[in-house]
Amino acid sequence: MKLRSQKWFSNPDNPAMTALYLERYLNYGLTREELQSGKPMIGIAQTGSDLSPCNRHHIELAKRVREGIVAAGGICFEFPVHPIQETGKRPTASLDRNLAYLGLVEMLYGYPLDGVVLTIGCDKTTPALLMAAATVNIPAIALSVGPMLNGWEGEERSGSGTVIWKSRLKLAVGEIDNEEFMRLAADSAPSVGYCNSMGTASTMNNLAEALGMQLPGSGAIPAPYRERGQISYLTGKRIVDMVHEDLKPSDIMTRGAFENAVVVNSAIGGSTNAPIHLNAVAAHMGVALDNDDWENIGHDVPLIVDMQPSGKYLGEDFHRAGGVAAVISSLLEAGKLPSPDAVTATGKTVLEEYTGIPVTNEKVIRKLDAPMKDSAGFLNMKGNLWDSAIMKTSVISEGFRKFYLSNPDDPEAFEGRAMVFDGPEHYHEMIDDPSLEMDENCILVMRGAGPIGYPGGAEVVNMQPPAYLIERGITELPCIGDGRQSGTSGSPSILNVAPEAAVQGGLAILKMGDPLRVDLRKRRVDLLVTDEEMQARHAELAQNGGYGYPADQTPWQQIQRSLVSQFDKGMVLKNGPEYQRVAQT
Ligand code: FES
Ligand code: MG
Repeated sequence: MKLRSQKWFSNPDNPAMTALYLERYLNYGLTREELQSGKPMIGIAQTGSDLSPCNRHHIELAKRVREGIVAAGGICFEFPVHPIQETGKRPTASLDRNLAYLGLVEMLYGYPLDGVVLTIGCDKTTPALLMAAATVNIPAIALSVGPMLNGWEGEERSGSGTVIWKSRLKLAVGEIDNEEFMRLAADSAPSVGYCNSMGTASTMNNLAEALGMQLPGSGAIPAPYRERGQISYLTGKRIVDMVHEDLKPSDIMTRGAFENAVVVNSAIGGSTNAPIHLNAVAAHMGVALDNDDWENIGHDVPLIVDMQPSGKYLGEDFHRAGGVAAVISSLLEAGKLPSPDAVTATGKTVLEEYTGIPVTNEKVIRKLDAPMKDSAGFLNMKGNLWDSAIMKTSVISEGFRKFYLSNPDDPEAFEGRAMVFDGPEHYHEMIDDPSLEMDENCILVMRGAGPIGYPGGAEVVNMQPPAYLIERGITELPCIGDGRQSGTSGSPSILNVAPEAAVQGGLAILKMGDPLRVDLRKRRVDLLVTDEEMQARHAELAQNGGYGYPADQTPWQQIQRSLVSQFDKGMVLKNGPEYQRVAQT
């Protein structure tokens, strides 16, 4: 098989271009012999940088990846990917998921690469890189940077992200001061790596393994552990063989692989950002996947991993208990994995790779018949205000749950007064305002926070009750929003509402104090007004020029707003199925 890269470096039809490519790639020390050897040219798509602290350790790991590539007879080209840091970018890091995707597609398409190692980690880096690999469809393997070591607060595990949501409750009622808040946050993040709780980063890295795109056993290894360097070397070796075997993303990321990932997501208590990102990767792979699939395939799966925010443990514990490999193995053994025949990056099937991997700590990874929670997957909530919204049932507290699984015969659904906020700034300004007279029957609603309204879709539906309710012991209220929620947060929420208010979705017509009915058994949220009233409000809104959104702050915000789809469609750039793949070269 003649490799793609040889069209650049050994093209007898165009000696002038060959000479030009050769000349410049030689000039930092590569030899002509190497470039014309016919050996696989392997890219390392480097997401680590000073601006991406969660992924920065990839700069070190890439050395081992390189050694693996060379040992297997490949030639290595390391190049930067547009940085994405969850905690750095304003207004939100998810603006850059699609930008990094576009940039990487251009690099993989336009440069002499036969295969690529995708260095994944912080939340959006994983979907961005998998999306690009899906579009260009050259052999690709992912390498997670791994979670941080456990954070500790005395004897207690302190999870990154999760500690922020817990501590701000204490700050709100004066239990801790600012200094203490900062110290608690810092102590939760003791080493290189991404968030050590089961937030979006751990979720997506584990799902990249469940999809078959990482070497088995690699998804959960903490960043500083020796195994992380070892698996980096093995990943480098493996991609060279994948090029020789012509094993492409389309061979691995099949419908069956996505179904496996949806099931694994429920079992690990994965983030509500996972449907957005996995639906996006599937869209670029040309595989059908929607939020109905998430409920139909994923809802009836038990939560077996005890990790913050739904549980107690953190990333190190998870890895030592067997990691995502042991979870996949347990599901496989119980016949709960939809596609045991899905092919992984090794070229072998899930069944071949994951049979008999033991759980070594059953406190951290429970048995399937003694789970943390039954039926712990997502619900796809609909109703008279929107088409699709995600609810993560595994973080629903007992108080909230009494309306749901604990009493399935109870005909009552939950009704409450909507407290409606236009974006996070409005929420912060108003939440403690006594004139709202909030009580335990209120539902907090955030709108204007979707892919277009708050460009990129803000992670802001992490709302807490006003201080006067927290003081009375009411520490959570149901939340609804057209934005996202941090995967490290644990409040009972209906998220990712699509369509969003900014495109005149139903949340746009909601008024402060409106009666809402949440029926988790029917998977519906309804505004309790007549159809005539609904129509009148929509007409009034249109007359007033629609819901609107703030001005663009950058050119990319403007471009993305003009092209982006809603959360249920993966928040991808609407470029039509014909452009999902680039021309094969
Ligand atoms: Fe990067 Fe959590 S902030 S993984
Ligand atoms: Mg996040």
